[in-house]
Amino acid sequence: MVELFEQLKQKISGENKVIVFPEGEDSRIQGAVIRLAKEGLIKPILLGSEQGILSTAKANGYDLSDIEVIDPSNYDKKLLAQLNAALVERRKGKTDADTASKWLQDVNYFGTMLVYTGKADGMVSGATHPTGDTVRPALQIIKTAKGSSRISGAFIMQKGDQRFVFSDAAINIDVDAETMAEIAVQSAQTAKVFDIDPKVAMLSFSTKGSAKSPLVDKVSEATKLAKAMAPDLANQIDGELQFDAAFVASVGAAKAPESSVAGHANTFIFPSLEAGNIGYKIAQRMGGFEAIGPILQGLAKPVSDLSRGANEEDVYKVAIITAAQALA
Ligand SMILES: CC(C)(COP(=O)(O)OP(=O)(O)OC[C@H]1O[C@@H](n2cnc3c(N)ncnc32)[C@H](O)[C@@H]1OP(=O)(O)O)[C@@H](O)C(=O)NCCC(=O)NCCS
Repeated sequence: MVELFEQLKQKISGENKVIVFPEGEDSRIQGAVIRLAKEGLIKPILLGSEQGILSTAKANGYDLSDIEVIDPSNYDKKLLAQLNAALVERRKGKTDADTASKWLQDVNYFGTMLVYTGKADGMVSGATHPTGDTVRPALQIIKTAKGSSRISGAFIMQKGDQRFVFSDAAINIDVDAETMAEIAVQSAQTAKVFDIDPKVAMLSFSTKGSAKSPLVDKVSEATKLAKAMAPDLANQIDGELQFDAAFVASVGAAKAPESSVAGHANTFIFPSLEAGNIGYKIAQRMGGFEAIGPILQGLAKPVSDLSRGANEEDVYKVAIITAAQALA
């Protein structure tokens, strides 16, 4: 199997997707952006105070002469007024012009508006901001894609040539049957971006009625709803399944012999954020899988949340994923 990022790089190379980086003063961001631009993978825009951006570049010996830099506090007055009007209009009475002008001095809101108005194709932030501050502007302004009513967060788990999707491991704290079904459909789409032919397991502590509980009923209901939401994927989604029945061929054959997913699943939908977040970290820390994400699913345009522990290589990879999502 061709290495994941080589595959994605081939997809985005020369497509000139414009990705905005609100944390332009951060040396990890600058280092990654210079590499991405030099390799012709994306067209980056750095946001931040001009002075701050230049002083980071100087301290690291970076040459930013080919990179677009925007200082929101010094942005063209007419363009800023246009962003303000577009923001107020988008918020439909929930945000007035004064609040909008305060928001536009926040790099995450400013970057989100560049994406919303089409000046950028995607955004990568979160190297210095917590998840909520990175994601909230996207929820409020970009909003969900057609057919989605909420966003969710997936991780691509990778080791050697094994590649899996784990969802939701990042966003929705309470997951009801409807939400779980939507997460399953979104995750199948994410799997395709990463060249995984989705086989989606709706996970529980029960396989096909082996245990009785309202929690089990929720997952079996979510399975029905997901199949109805995406009839073209009906044979590629199944539940409720325990993890071993979903993952291990012999266990799947014994516990769910009729299932086309059991034993062969590659896209795992967890019944709560607790299960998903704990589950991916176990695979990462005990199983030795690389965890790539969270990849936000269901947004009308891609916005990616870095971990604050991210290094330059992580920024580079997340930007590649974001451009690939913009292309999809
Ligand atoms: C994502 C998150 C920050 C949003 O929280 P929040 O800003 O308090 O959300 P609010 O309920 O105030 O909603 C703000 C807006 O976002 C929208 N929104 C919130 N969650 C959403 C979702 N999952 N999908 C789509 N829209 C959502 C709301 O509808 C609201 O829109 P509006 O202003 O137009 O009415 C929150 O769900 C969260 O903290 N999740 C857990 C994140 C986490 O810690 N993960 C583990 C580590 S990765």
